[in-house]
Formats: sequence, structure tokens, C-alpha cells
Amino acid sequence: MNLEAYLVERARWVEEALAAYLPVLPEPARQLGEAMRYSLFAGGKRLRPVLALAGAEALGRDPKVALPAACALEFIHTYSLIHDDLPAMDDDDWRRGKPTNHKVFGEAQAILAGDGLLTQAFAILATAEYPAEVAPEKVLAAIAEIAAAAGPEGMVGGQSADIRAQGKSDADGEFLHYIHTHKTGALLRASVRVGALLAGAAPAELAALTAYGEKLGLAFQISDDILDATGDPKVLGKPVKNDAQKQKLTYVTLYGLAKARQEARRLAAEAEAALGAFGPGAEPLRQLARFTVERNH
Ligand code: IPE
Ligand code: IPE
Ligand code: MG
Ligand code: MG
Ligand code: MG
Repeated sequence: MNLEAYLVERARWVEEALAAYLPVLPEPARQLGEAMRYSLFAGGKRLRPVLALAGAEALGRDPKVALPAACALEFIHTYSLIHDDLPAMDDDDWRRGKPTNHKVFGEAQAILAGDGLLTQAFAILATAEYPAEVAPEKVLAAIAEIAAAAGPEGMVGGQSADIRAQGKSDADGEFLHYIHTHKTGALLRASVRVGALLAGAAPAELAALTAYGEKLGLAFQISDDILDATGDPKVLGKPVKNDAQKQKLTYVTLYGLAKARQEARRLAAEAEAALGAFGPGAEPLRQLARFTVERNH
């Protein structure tokens, strides 16, 4: 299979569904709707939705069973980026080559756009129509999975630790591991798992896909750290600030570039190996693991 063509097709499914899930708001809330739409359609890779669809596909099921959950994950991811870029957090003016949400709509509307996207994600999950063979308990399990991954024991906890680590001189490898597995890893792991849960995975299958998601999540954040350290700022959409950048604790600042590249490659190989027992339906997941680290070499 050709990964590029696959990603284009899956992104198209996801984008059509995302647009349909955006509420049409009346005039008084029109700006909120525009702010939500602006970041939702700003050019993301749609990695989390693609992982959810591919998690179902790995089990030989119609990936569309996971389409509402895939959209909910992208709503949550988008909210997390809007808030991550705010002046009180990373204070970034650019994302994906475009001005950040608060630069266009102001801080108050950006905060609210994030709130709106997060809340709407759970409305999508709870009200979507699922095929008859998806029992309500599976839908509940998927909702619980996403809530746990996005919440204080997942992404929000990781973001809090990430902020605390800035300028913290005694932050070590263990602290960094917490940051990575929570701020990014949790949602990526949940993406693969909800696809599998909705597709009716057996316990052993779910365990293998969970291992895949964990390895991939770590490899992905190490790669993001490498790209932040080495990438062309214009491509990254992040011109280096004039004032000294707050010293961030990343895999690159702690271990150096060579070790970071080596570790990302090792984890991606382990992610692929976790899929050993799966057939050709898991080919997209295998190729996604390779793609995650190839983009930083
Ligand atoms: C970037 O995530 C932020 C992290 C969580 C590391 P992505 O690289 O998936 O962002 P987009 O959606 O494709 O821009
Ligand atoms: C973002 O991490 C993680 C979340 C938004 C949950 P970063 O702060 O490293 O991501 P970028 O580099 O701004 O995309
Ligand atoms: Mg951040
Ligand atoms: Mg950031
Ligand atoms: Mg980063």
C-alpha cells in the first residue's frame, strides 16, 4: 500500500465528518464558531483520527465504525493546541504556518474555542450513530477511554508537568518520561485503542495494539522534539522568538540529538514488532510507525 495516498483518502473522510460535526452558531456566537473552524481546518495531519480508523482496520473491520470517535479525538487535539499556544502557556504566534488562534481571535475567544471543541467532542461521542453490532457498553468504554486520556491523568497532567519543567534545573529523565507519555502519548495510545474497542477487539488484540500505541506515542513526541530543535522555523511555522526561548525540557535538551534519533527509531521498530500477530489489515499501522520517525531524519 502507498501510505501517502492512504493518508490523503483518510484525511478526506475525516475532514468531511469534522465539518458536519461543527455546530452552526447564531449571530451572537458567530465568532466562536469561526475560531473553532479556523483551527480545526488549519492543516493538521489528522494523525489521531487516522490511528483510530487504522486500529479498527487492523482487526479486519470497516474503519468507519470509528469515524465519530476519530473526529472527537481531532476536536480534543485541536483544543489542546489552541490552549498550548496561548501566552500563558508556550506563547507561540505561529502554528502550521498560520497565526495562532489567539493572534487572530484574541485570547478570550481562543480559550473559548478550546472549551467549545473539548465539550463538543463528548457530544459527538455520546450522540453519534453506531452500527447495530457496536453494543452501548463499547461506546461507553470508548468515551471513558478518551476522557481518561485527555484529562488530568492524561494529557492535561502532562501539560501541567511540561510547564513546571521549564527552567526547573533538577528535572530528570523520569520527569521527562512522565511529560511525554502524558502530554502526547496518552491521546495517541487512546486513538488506537478506541478504534480497536469499537471494532470489538479481543483482550490479546487490545493488549498488542496498546503496546503499539504506547511505543508510537513516545516515538512521536521524541520526533516532535527533534523537529522543534532542527526544523526550518518557517516550515514549522514557529519563528524563533527574539527574547531568549524559555529552556524547555525535551528529549533533545536532556540526551542530545543523536541519542534522540536513535531512541525514536528503536521505539518505532518496537511499535511495529508489537503488531507481529496481525495480518495485512495492520499494514497502515506498520507504515505509520515508520513514517513517524522518518520525518525527522
Ligand atoms: C503536534 O501534534 C503537537 C504534539 C502533540 C506533539 P501533531 O504533529 O499531530 O500536530 P498537527 O495536528 O499535525 O499539526
Ligand atoms: C504539545 O506539546 C502537547 C499538547 C498540545 C498536548 P508541544 O508544546 O511540544 O507541541 P508543539 O511543539 O507546540 O506543537
Ligand atoms: Mg507545550
Ligand atoms: Mg507548544
Ligand atoms: Mg513540541
